[in-house]
Amino acid sequence: MERVRRRNVLMLAALPVLAASGPASASDQGPAPRRSTVRNRLRVPPLAGSTTDADGVRRFELTMRRGRSELLPGTWTETLGFNGPHLGPTIRLRRGETVQMAVTNQLDEVSTVHWHGIRLPARMDGGPHQPIEPGATWTPRWTVDQPAATFWYHPHWQGSTASQVYRGLAGLLLVDEPDGPELPGTYGVDDIPLILQDKRFAPDGSLAGDPLRGTYGILGDRVLVNGTHDPYLEVTTERVRFRLLNGSNARVYHVRFADRRGFHVVANDAGLLDTPVEVDEISLTPAERVEIVARFTPGETATLRSVGGATDIDQGDFDLLQIVAGTRLAASPPPDWTSRTPVTTLGARVRRFRLDGHDTINGRRMDLSRIDEVVPAGAREIWEVENGDHTHNFHIHGVSFRVLDVDGAPPPAHLAGPKDTVHVPKRVTVRLAVRFGHHTDPTAPYMYHCHILRHEDSGMMGQFVVVEPGTEEQVSRCLAAATGPADAPSGRSHSDGTPSPSY
Ligand code: C2O
Ligand code: CU
Ligand code: CU
Repeated sequence: MERVRRRNVLMLAALPVLAASGPASASDQGPAPRRSTVRNRLRVPPLAGSTTDADGVRRFELTMRRGRSELLPGTWTETLGFNGPHLGPTIRLRRGETVQMAVTNQLDEVSTVHWHGIRLPARMDGGPHQPIEPGATWTPRWTVDQPAATFWYHPHWQGSTASQVYRGLAGLLLVDEPDGPELPGTYGVDDIPLILQDKRFAPDGSLAGDPLRGTYGILGDRVLVNGTHDPYLEVTTERVRFRLLNGSNARVYHVRFADRRGFHVVANDAGLLDTPVEVDEISLTPAERVEIVARFTPGETATLRSVGGATDIDQGDFDLLQIVAGTRLAASPPPDWTSRTPVTTLGARVRRFRLDGHDTINGRRMDLSRIDEVVPAGAREIWEVENGDHTHNFHIHGVSFRVLDVDGAPPPAHLAGPKDTVHVPKRVTVRLAVRFGHHTDPTAPYMYHCHILRHEDSGMMGQFVVVEPGTEEQVSRCLAAATGPADAPSGRSHSDGTPSPSY
């Protein structure tokens, strides 16, 4: 913290000199935050269009394709995107509606599309069991049944996820619900998505680096926000909600304002906090999201920055976004609510997972034909995740959870909301209170894994099925033997509210 402050002073003092002599690399204080002379207007992903059937089902179309993008001004980069050359449109869903996606693969490689954080039947989940061959279209359908939050979608084909996400396949998926608290909510105006992704460019503008090399794969030396290099954003309201997604392969961000102003964390990955919590810095490991509300004064310029930390994958300081406030700002109310969501763990079954090296959980690498865990529908369980020697995180498909404790200590208030991905630092044990869903299917698994894509692709992943309570013992642990035809009907839905016998 001291380091950064001193550097700010230096940079201010050095400005006239820089203007006269061109960019000079600053001093013996280490590298200055990356900045270029030209700032670019922040790109905001467009909202996805949809059509509504006579039966009320809303349909979206996503096409995975190749393209060329001007990621660095003046340079063209081969990229991948949904419905465009890079990244994807923001899909907005309303709680309670039924939606159908038509995902077409126009790439020359197999892919899948996973709806990260969404509660849906496993066959609709878009994991490695739902490949989309080149030229094919996949049409999952589900009824949106979860609290409002910021989710995302990305490929999940074993061994290709890191490369496909790195080249640009990722988009946001927002769930809205009618009766939430009042928060800034005009998309692109005072509700701004920020997809953070680090990249490394070769001199010819192509994306450099091998996402499956080394302990962590790719660590870029530039951070793009929504695919924008060195962005600025003009704001017109007193308060702005930012929805941050760490869409990077491995990099961890520690995000704060350069002037260390406080801001409110209003939501974690999977929903609102019990009450907004004021902090001056938040950290995000890959796939984590956070929603914050920040306040600006008329005419000011503020800088959102990521500062380096102490792990292997969070080194370096990066200016993420310059925020330029208009001279008159529309008033907006401060975030303010209180609710209590009790976390029940009484009698919960405990399962233990140990992350080792860069490719195993409980000593085993991912095997698509092996069911690692069988969970009764609707169960509340404690998942205890212990980490060995490298930096990892842990994500569970189709659920949300609360962090119970980190090495025995409760999490800070701004991390106590609903989550689906959690940082598990080196040699630390994290306990999660997990609430499982009601979509049962003994032959279609969900995944849990480290979301550092190099690790995920290398096999630091396992599979679980959710089954009718009482049938756990009858479930085959070997998927190859149990798999029906690919177009078999998706599993029955266990009716909500059916008590699970173990509780
Ligand atoms: Cu972002 Cu297995 O998921
Ligand atoms: Cu996921
Ligand atoms: Cu990992």
